[in-house]
Amino acid sequence: MPEKVISVNELVKSYSDITAVNGISFSINKGEVFSLLGPNGAGKTTTVEILEGVRNRTSGDVAVLGEDPEMSKTLIFKLGILPQDFSFIYNSTPREALNFYKGTLKASGDVGEILEMVELTDKATTPFQKLSGGQKQKLGLALSLVNDPEILFLDEPTSGLDPRARRNIWSVIKTLKGRGKSILLTTHYLEEAELLADRVAIMNKGKIVDSGTPMEIVERHHEEDNLIIRGDGQVESLMAAGGYKFQREGAYIKVGLKSIREATEIINYLYERKANFEDFTLKRESLEDVFVRMVGEIGEEDEAE
Ligand SMILES: Nc1ncnc2c1ncn2[C@@H]1O[C@H](COP(=O)(O)OP(=O)(O)OP(=O)(O)O)[C@@H](O)[C@H]1O
Ligand SMILES: [Mg+2]
Repeated sequence: MPEKVISVNELVKSYSDITAVNGISFSINKGEVFSLLGPNGAGKTTTVEILEGVRNRTSGDVAVLGEDPEMSKTLIFKLGILPQDFSFIYNSTPREALNFYKGTLKASGDVGEILEMVELTDKATTPFQKLSGGQKQKLGLALSLVNDPEILFLDEPTSGLDPRARRNIWSVIKTLKGRGKSILLTTHYLEEAELLADRVAIMNKGKIVDSGTPMEIVERHHEEDNLIIRGDGQVESLMAAGGYKFQREGAYIKVGLKSIREATEIINYLYERKANFEDFTLKRESLEDVFVRMVGEIGEEDEAE
């Protein structure tokens, strides 16, 4: 049995008029990257903050490294926290911020090494207010690492980052996983979860609607994979003659598949008839494709990110 570092059982959190988290259960194993996914307002941050001990729960059981985060006074020293919308004292620099956290948490982390890891060395002495959004986010991540935590809570660590900075954070997360850290990651970037997470839970309106490895979730919910063929009218005629349904999309012919096996049949059929197609690809639905269907529409804010 894998060692559980986080257990959540029938967790409920109600604010005055809404139930933000409505009876969710999951656990996270040691060394695992676990990703909570869901549209705006699904209850991810509420869940994460209850696990961090920052918010109180209404009911249910929660254990983090065997302790109740609401009661523990020592847990905070073993956790790394990057809050959503991280911010810091405006005129202090990343180096000062790291040294401050290091002192407060009585930590032994090497400030220079952490700055290097998140690619912030050249901004070490720039005041917080003069850092770009992505650099501020990287500082938040750096601060969460100062006490060499056993568990990291990363609430949207890459939101608003440019693609290169995002990949940098991904590589930091992979390095941390390689060092045996357990990581709870929330993100609106489904490809990020697909790439980094061992397991994901999809939340919607305070409930977990499915969980498993990204591949399991895609397997369970995918509806239609497509065969995309780059080909001309002759290919189209052959497809029609063979009774295959397809759509023309620019230079491509898109065929909805009932099974992956059907793709080989179609390609064989076309080869045998000497069709002039240039190439073909198989497009499986991604985690994002099935996610969008599962939770209805993604909120507009996400789309704007
Ligand atoms: N302090 C609070 N008081 C009242 N309602 C709150 C509070 N914090 C969150 N909520 C509500 O709880 C619900 C869940 O919010 P939460 O921040 O957990 O969502 P989220 O999944 O993290 O969303 P996002 O993707 O936008 O960060 C929302 O409807 C939100 O309005
Ligand atoms: Mg949130």
